[in-house]
Amino acid sequence: MLALYKPFWKKLQELDFSEKEISGLQRLTQDKLRNPKQGDYPRWREALRSLPEVEVSAVDYSCHAIRCEGKNVEHGLIDSCYKGLMPWRKGPFDMFGCFIDSEWQSWMKWNRIQQKLPALENKLILDVGCGNGYYLFRMKAHKPLLLMGIDPGLLQIMQFWSVEKYTKSAAAILPLTLENLPTKLCHFDVVFSMGVLYHRKSPIHHIMELADTIKQGGHLVLETLVVEGDEMTCLLPQGRYAQMRNVWFLPSVAMLRVMLERNGFTGVECIDVTQTTTKEQRSTKWMKFHSLTNFLNQDKTKTIEGYALPLRVTLIATKK
Ligand SMILES: C[S@@+](CC[C@H](N)C(=O)[O-])C[C@H]1O[C@@H](n2cnc3c(N)ncnc32)[C@H](O)[C@@H]1O
Repeated sequence: MLALYKPFWKKLQELDFSEKEISGLQRLTQDKLRNPKQGDYPRWREALRSLPEVEVSAVDYSCHAIRCEGKNVEHGLIDSCYKGLMPWRKGPFDMFGCFIDSEWQSWMKWNRIQQKLPALENKLILDVGCGNGYYLFRMKAHKPLLLMGIDPGLLQIMQFWSVEKYTKSAAAILPLTLENLPTKLCHFDVVFSMGVLYHRKSPIHHIMELADTIKQGGHLVLETLVVEGDEMTCLLPQGRYAQMRNVWFLPSVAMLRVMLERNGFTGVECIDVTQTTTKEQRSTKWMKFHSLTNFLNQDKTKTIEGYALPLRVTLIATKK
Protein backbone atom coordinates (compact mmCIF):
# COMPACT_ATOMS: atom_id res chain seq x y z
CA MET A 1 0.00 0.00 0.00
CA LEU A 2 2.90 2.37 0.68
CA ALA A 3 3.57 2.75 -3.04
CA LEU A 4 0.10 4.28 -3.45
CA TYR A 5 1.24 7.35 -1.49
CA LYS A 6 4.12 8.30 -3.84
CA PRO A 7 2.21 10.88 -5.94
CA PHE A 8 0.83 12.39 -2.75
CA TRP A 9 4.30 13.01 -1.24
CA LYS A 10 5.31 14.66 -4.50
CA LYS A 11 2.27 16.89 -4.35
CA LEU A 12 3.14 18.00 -0.80
CA GLN A 13 6.60 19.02 -2.08
CA GLU A 14 5.04 21.11 -4.83
CA LEU A 15 2.85 22.79 -2.22
CA ASP A 16 5.79 23.90 -0.11
CA PHE A 17 5.49 21.48 2.76
CA SER A 18 9.01 21.33 4.22
CA GLU A 19 11.25 18.26 3.75
CA LYS A 20 11.08 17.73 7.51
CA GLU A 21 7.26 17.75 7.52
CA ILE A 22 7.03 15.39 4.56
CA SER A 23 9.59 12.94 5.90
CA GLY A 24 7.80 13.02 9.28
CA LEU A 25 4.48 12.12 7.64
CA GLN A 26 6.18 9.45 5.51
CA ARG A 27 7.87 7.83 8.49
CA LEU A 28 4.65 7.74 10.53
CA THR A 29 2.72 6.32 7.57
CA GLN A 30 5.35 3.62 7.01
CA ASP A 31 5.41 2.69 10.71
CA LYS A 32 1.63 2.24 10.78
CA LEU A 33 1.32 0.31 7.53
CA ARG A 34 4.39 -1.91 7.71
CA ASN A 35 3.09 -4.73 9.93
CA PRO A 36 -0.66 -4.40 10.41
CA LYS A 37 -1.77 -6.51 13.36
CA GLN A 38 -5.56 -6.58 12.80
CA GLY A 39 -6.87 -10.15 12.50
CA ASP A 40 -8.93 -9.37 9.41
CA TYR A 41 -6.07 -7.67 7.58
CA PRO A 42 -5.28 -10.69 5.31
CA ARG A 43 -8.93 -10.69 4.08
CA TRP A 44 -8.87 -6.95 3.41
CA ARG A 45 -5.49 -7.15 1.65
CA GLU A 46 -6.71 -9.99 -0.55
CA ALA A 47 -9.87 -8.05 -1.44
CA LEU A 48 -7.90 -4.92 -2.35
CA ARG A 49 -5.33 -6.88 -4.38
CA SER A 50 -8.00 -8.81 -6.27
CA LEU A 51 -9.86 -5.79 -7.60
CA PRO A 52 -9.66 -6.12 -11.39
CA GLU A 53 -8.38 -3.51 -13.81
CA VAL A 54 -11.28 -1.62 -15.40
CA GLU A 55 -11.37 0.89 -18.21
CA VAL A 56 -13.09 3.69 -16.30
CA SER A 57 -15.39 5.79 -18.47
CA ALA A 58 -16.91 8.16 -15.90
CA VAL A 59 -16.51 9.22 -12.27
CA ASP A 60 -19.13 11.30 -10.48
CA TYR A 61 -18.50 12.91 -7.08
CA SER A 62 -21.64 15.00 -7.02
CA CYS A 63 -24.39 12.40 -6.41
CA HIS A 64 -25.46 10.76 -3.17
CA ALA A 65 -23.32 7.75 -4.08
CA ILE A 66 -19.74 8.25 -5.32
CA ARG A 67 -20.09 6.62 -8.73
CA CYS A 68 -17.74 4.97 -11.22
CA GLU A 69 -18.72 3.67 -14.62
CA GLY A 70 -16.58 1.49 -16.87
CA LYS A 71 -16.29 -0.92 -19.77
CA ASN A 72 -15.86 -4.71 -19.68
CA VAL A 73 -16.45 -4.89 -15.93
CA GLU A 74 -16.16 -8.26 -14.15
CA HIS A 75 -19.21 -7.60 -11.99
CA GLY A 76 -19.01 -10.77 -9.87
CA LEU A 77 -15.38 -10.13 -8.95
CA ILE A 78 -15.99 -6.44 -8.18
CA ASP A 79 -18.88 -7.41 -5.90
CA SER A 80 -16.91 -10.06 -4.00
CA CYS A 81 -13.88 -7.79 -3.54
CA TYR A 82 -15.97 -4.97 -2.08
CA LYS A 83 -17.77 -7.51 0.15
CA GLY A 84 -14.31 -8.58 1.38
CA LEU A 85 -13.91 -5.05 2.75
CA MET A 86 -17.08 -5.14 4.89
CA PRO A 87 -18.41 -3.62 7.10
CA TRP A 88 -18.98 -0.38 5.16
CA ARG A 89 -20.05 2.32 7.61
CA LYS A 90 -19.78 5.45 5.43
CA GLY A 91 -21.02 5.86 1.90
CA PRO A 92 -22.79 4.95 -0.32
CA PHE A 93 -20.63 4.09 -3.33
CA ASP A 94 -21.79 2.84 -6.71
CA MET A 95 -18.84 1.00 -8.20
CA PHE A 96 -19.70 -0.05 -11.76
CA GLY A 97 -23.22 -0.96 -10.67
CA CYS A 98 -22.16 -2.62 -7.40
CA PHE A 99 -24.11 -0.47 -4.95
CA ILE A 100 -22.38 -0.35 -1.56
CA ASP A 101 -25.22 0.58 0.75
CA SER A 102 -23.33 1.70 3.85
CA GLU A 103 -24.68 1.99 7.40
CA TRP A 104 -24.66 5.80 7.17
CA GLN A 105 -26.38 7.71 4.43
CA SER A 106 -23.45 10.11 4.52
CA TRP A 107 -24.91 12.27 1.77
CA MET A 108 -27.59 13.49 4.20
CA LYS A 109 -24.99 15.33 6.31
CA TRP A 110 -23.25 16.62 3.18
CA ASN A 111 -26.57 17.96 1.83
CA ARG A 112 -27.20 19.78 5.11
CA ILE A 113 -23.83 21.55 5.20
CA GLN A 114 -22.52 21.75 1.62
CA GLN A 115 -24.08 25.11 0.68
CA LYS A 116 -22.84 26.77 3.87
CA LEU A 117 -19.20 25.64 3.77
CA PRO A 118 -16.28 28.01 3.16
CA ALA A 119 -15.06 27.97 -0.47
CA LEU A 120 -13.05 24.80 -1.17
CA GLU A 121 -11.86 25.63 -4.69
CA ASN A 122 -8.05 25.87 -4.92
CA LYS A 123 -7.80 25.30 -1.19
CA LEU A 124 -5.68 22.93 0.91
CA ILE A 125 -8.07 20.73 2.83
CA LEU A 126 -7.56 18.36 5.74
CA ASP A 127 -10.28 15.98 6.92
CA VAL A 128 -9.50 14.69 10.42
CA GLY A 129 -11.13 11.32 11.18
CA CYS A 130 -12.23 11.05 7.56
CA GLY A 131 -13.25 7.37 7.77
CA ASN A 132 -13.14 5.84 4.28
CA GLY A 133 -12.94 9.25 2.63
CA TYR A 134 -16.57 9.57 1.50
CA TYR A 135 -16.48 13.33 2.20
CA LEU A 136 -13.05 13.75 0.58
CA PHE A 137 -14.62 12.41 -2.60
CA ARG A 138 -17.58 14.77 -2.25
CA MET A 139 -15.14 17.69 -1.73
CA LYS A 140 -13.33 16.75 -4.94
CA ALA A 141 -16.33 18.12 -6.88
CA HIS A 142 -15.35 21.57 -5.51
CA LYS A 143 -11.89 21.44 -7.18
CA PRO A 144 -9.57 21.84 -4.17
CA LEU A 145 -5.79 22.03 -4.53
CA LEU A 146 -5.06 19.32 -1.95
CA LEU A 147 -7.24 16.75 -0.24
CA MET A 148 -5.63 15.04 2.71
CA GLY A 149 -7.46 12.82 5.18
CA ILE A 150 -6.17 11.24 8.36
CA ASP A 151 -7.74 8.29 10.13
CA PRO A 152 -6.23 5.52 12.28
CA GLY A 153 -8.73 2.91 10.99
CA LEU A 154 -6.95 0.49 8.64
CA LEU A 155 -10.14 -0.96 7.14
CA GLN A 156 -11.41 2.52 6.31
CA ILE A 157 -8.08 3.32 4.61
CA MET A 158 -8.24 0.14 2.56
CA GLN A 159 -11.83 0.93 1.57
CA PHE A 160 -10.59 4.35 0.45
CA TRP A 161 -7.84 2.86 -1.75
CA SER A 162 -10.31 0.35 -3.20
CA VAL A 163 -12.38 3.26 -4.51
CA GLU A 164 -9.43 5.51 -5.33
CA LYS A 165 -8.03 2.75 -7.57
CA TYR A 166 -10.74 3.77 -10.05
CA THR A 167 -11.57 7.38 -9.18
CA LYS A 168 -7.96 8.67 -9.21
CA SER A 169 -9.05 11.71 -7.25
CA ALA A 170 -5.45 12.35 -6.04
CA ALA A 171 -6.66 12.50 -2.43
CA ALA A 172 -4.89 10.40 0.22
CA ILE A 173 -5.69 9.18 3.70
CA LEU A 174 -2.75 8.87 6.07
CA PRO A 175 -3.15 6.24 8.81
CA LEU A 176 -2.66 8.79 11.59
CA THR A 177 -4.52 10.40 14.42
CA LEU A 178 -4.57 14.17 14.82
CA GLU A 179 -2.23 13.78 17.79
CA ASN A 180 0.32 12.01 15.55
CA LEU A 181 0.69 14.98 13.17
CA PRO A 182 3.90 17.01 13.35
CA THR A 183 3.11 20.01 15.54
CA LYS A 184 2.13 23.34 13.96
CA LEU A 185 1.50 21.86 10.51
CA CYS A 186 -0.48 25.02 9.79
CA HIS A 187 -0.79 24.67 6.01
CA PHE A 188 -4.50 24.07 5.60
CA ASP A 189 -7.18 26.53 4.49
CA VAL A 190 -10.11 24.40 5.62
CA VAL A 191 -9.98 21.63 8.22
CA PHE A 192 -12.86 19.29 8.89
CA SER A 193 -13.37 17.40 12.14
CA MET A 194 -16.67 15.56 11.88
CA GLY A 195 -17.71 12.90 14.38
CA VAL A 196 -14.40 12.91 16.26
CA LEU A 197 -14.59 15.41 19.15
CA TYR A 198 -16.94 13.29 21.30
CA HIS A 199 -14.51 10.37 20.99
CA ARG A 200 -11.74 12.42 22.58
CA LYS A 201 -11.17 12.34 26.34
CA SER A 202 -9.69 15.79 26.03
CA PRO A 203 -11.89 17.88 23.70
CA ILE A 204 -10.02 21.12 24.41
CA HIS A 205 -6.77 19.53 23.27
CA HIS A 206 -8.54 18.28 20.14
CA ILE A 207 -9.59 21.86 19.36
CA MET A 208 -6.07 23.18 20.06
CA GLU A 209 -4.54 20.52 17.81
CA LEU A 210 -7.03 21.37 15.07
CA ALA A 211 -6.08 25.05 15.38
CA ASP A 212 -2.42 24.08 14.89
CA THR A 213 -3.18 22.64 11.44
CA ILE A 214 -4.99 25.74 10.09
CA LYS A 215 -3.54 28.83 8.40
CA GLN A 216 -4.30 32.17 9.98
CA GLY A 217 -7.71 33.22 8.61
CA GLY A 218 -8.48 29.63 7.57
CA HIS A 219 -11.58 27.76 8.66
CA LEU A 220 -12.55 24.87 10.89
CA VAL A 221 -15.69 22.83 10.16
CA LEU A 222 -16.51 21.07 13.41
CA GLU A 223 -19.31 18.52 13.66
CA THR A 224 -20.05 16.74 16.90
CA LEU A 225 -22.73 15.42 19.24
CA VAL A 226 -24.24 18.02 21.54
CA VAL A 227 -26.96 18.33 24.17
CA GLU A 228 -29.55 21.06 24.69
CA GLY A 229 -28.55 23.73 27.20
CA ASP A 230 -26.57 26.88 27.90
CA GLU A 231 -22.83 27.46 28.23
CA MET A 232 -22.93 25.74 31.66
CA THR A 233 -24.22 22.45 30.17
CA CYS A 234 -22.26 19.37 29.18
CA LEU A 235 -23.08 15.64 29.33
CA LEU A 236 -20.38 13.19 30.34
CA PRO A 237 -22.12 9.80 30.12
CA GLN A 238 -21.67 7.47 33.09
CA GLY A 239 -20.82 4.61 30.77
CA ARG A 240 -21.94 4.02 27.23
CA TYR A 241 -23.89 6.52 25.12
CA ALA A 242 -26.16 4.90 22.46
CA GLN A 243 -24.11 1.76 23.13
CA MET A 244 -20.84 3.48 22.18
CA ARG A 245 -18.13 2.93 24.78
CA ASN A 246 -15.85 5.73 23.64
CA VAL A 247 -18.09 8.76 24.04
CA TRP A 248 -16.85 11.45 26.40
CA PHE A 249 -17.96 15.08 26.28
CA LEU A 250 -21.28 16.18 24.77
CA PRO A 251 -21.33 19.95 25.36
CA SER A 252 -24.17 22.32 24.49
CA VAL A 253 -23.71 24.44 21.35
CA ALA A 254 -23.16 27.43 23.64
CA MET A 255 -20.36 25.67 25.53
CA LEU A 256 -18.77 24.48 22.28
CA ARG A 257 -18.71 28.08 21.11
CA VAL A 258 -16.81 29.08 24.27
CA MET A 259 -14.40 26.17 23.79
CA LEU A 260 -13.60 27.45 20.28
CA GLU A 261 -13.39 31.11 21.22
CA ARG A 262 -10.97 30.38 24.07
CA ASN A 263 -8.72 28.33 21.77
CA GLY A 264 -7.80 30.53 18.84
CA PHE A 265 -11.06 30.82 16.89
CA THR A 266 -13.42 33.67 16.12
CA GLY A 267 -16.58 34.21 14.05
CA VAL A 268 -18.17 30.97 15.22
CA GLU A 269 -21.25 30.20 13.15
CA CYS A 270 -23.71 27.35 13.68
CA ILE A 271 -24.75 26.04 10.26
CA ASP A 272 -26.73 22.95 11.23
CA VAL A 273 -28.33 21.19 14.18
CA THR A 274 -29.96 17.85 13.37
CA GLN A 275 -31.17 14.85 15.30
CA THR A 276 -29.80 11.61 13.86
CA THR A 277 -32.58 9.34 12.65
CA THR A 278 -32.78 5.66 11.71
CA LYS A 279 -33.16 6.81 8.12
CA GLU A 280 -29.62 8.22 8.24
CA GLN A 281 -27.99 5.41 10.28
CA ARG A 282 -29.17 1.83 9.88
CA SER A 283 -28.01 -1.78 9.34
CA THR A 284 -27.74 -2.86 5.73
CA LYS A 285 -26.47 -5.86 3.87
CA TRP A 286 -23.06 -4.11 3.76
CA MET A 287 -23.05 -3.45 7.56
CA LYS A 288 -24.87 -6.28 9.27
CA PHE A 289 -24.19 -5.37 12.90
CA HIS A 290 -26.68 -3.54 15.14
CA SER A 291 -27.27 0.11 14.32
CA LEU A 292 -29.06 3.14 15.76
CA THR A 293 -32.52 1.55 16.10
CA ASN A 294 -31.02 -1.04 18.47
CA PHE A 295 -29.36 1.67 20.53
CA LEU A 296 -32.59 3.53 21.42
CA ASN A 297 -35.25 2.76 24.03
CA GLN A 298 -38.52 1.08 23.06
CA ASP A 299 -40.50 4.21 22.20
CA LYS A 300 -37.41 5.80 20.58
CA THR A 301 -37.49 8.86 22.84
CA LYS A 302 -34.11 8.29 24.55
CA THR A 303 -30.94 6.31 24.01
CA ILE A 304 -31.03 2.81 25.49
CA GLU A 305 -29.14 4.20 28.51
CA GLY A 306 -31.79 6.92 29.04
CA TYR A 307 -29.84 9.87 27.63
CA ALA A 308 -31.11 12.47 25.14
CA LEU A 309 -31.30 11.28 21.53
CA PRO A 310 -28.23 11.90 19.35
CA LEU A 311 -28.20 15.54 18.28
CA ARG A 312 -25.43 16.76 15.98
CA VAL A 313 -24.24 20.29 15.36
CA THR A 314 -21.96 21.67 12.66
CA LEU A 315 -20.07 24.86 13.45
CA ILE A 316 -17.74 26.90 11.27
CA ALA A 317 -15.05 28.98 12.94
CA THR A 318 -12.18 31.15 11.69
CA LYS A 319 -8.63 30.76 13.00
CA LYS A 320 -7.40 34.04 14.50
C1 LIG B 1 -17.73 8.64 13.83
S1 LIG B 1 -16.46 8.43 12.64
C2 LIG B 1 -16.71 9.86 11.62
C3 LIG B 1 -16.29 9.65 10.19
C4 LIG B 1 -16.55 10.85 9.28
N1 LIG B 1 -15.74 12.00 9.65
C5 LIG B 1 -18.00 11.24 9.29
O1 LIG B 1 -18.32 12.36 9.71
O2 LIG B 1 -18.84 10.44 8.87
C6 LIG B 1 -15.02 8.87 13.57
C7 LIG B 1 -13.72 8.60 12.83
O3 LIG B 1 -12.66 9.26 13.52
C8 LIG B 1 -11.54 8.42 13.58
N2 LIG B 1 -10.76 8.87 14.75
C9 LIG B 1 -10.95 8.55 16.05
N3 LIG B 1 -10.05 9.17 16.82
C10 LIG B 1 -9.29 9.94 16.00
C11 LIG B 1 -8.19 10.82 16.19
N4 LIG B 1 -7.71 11.02 17.39
N5 LIG B 1 -7.63 11.43 15.12
C12 LIG B 1 -8.15 11.20 13.87
N6 LIG B 1 -9.19 10.37 13.64
C13 LIG B 1 -9.75 9.74 14.68
C14 LIG B 1 -12.11 7.03 13.68
O4 LIG B 1 -11.20 6.04 13.23
C15 LIG B 1 -13.35 7.12 12.79
O5 LIG B 1 -13.10 6.74 11.46
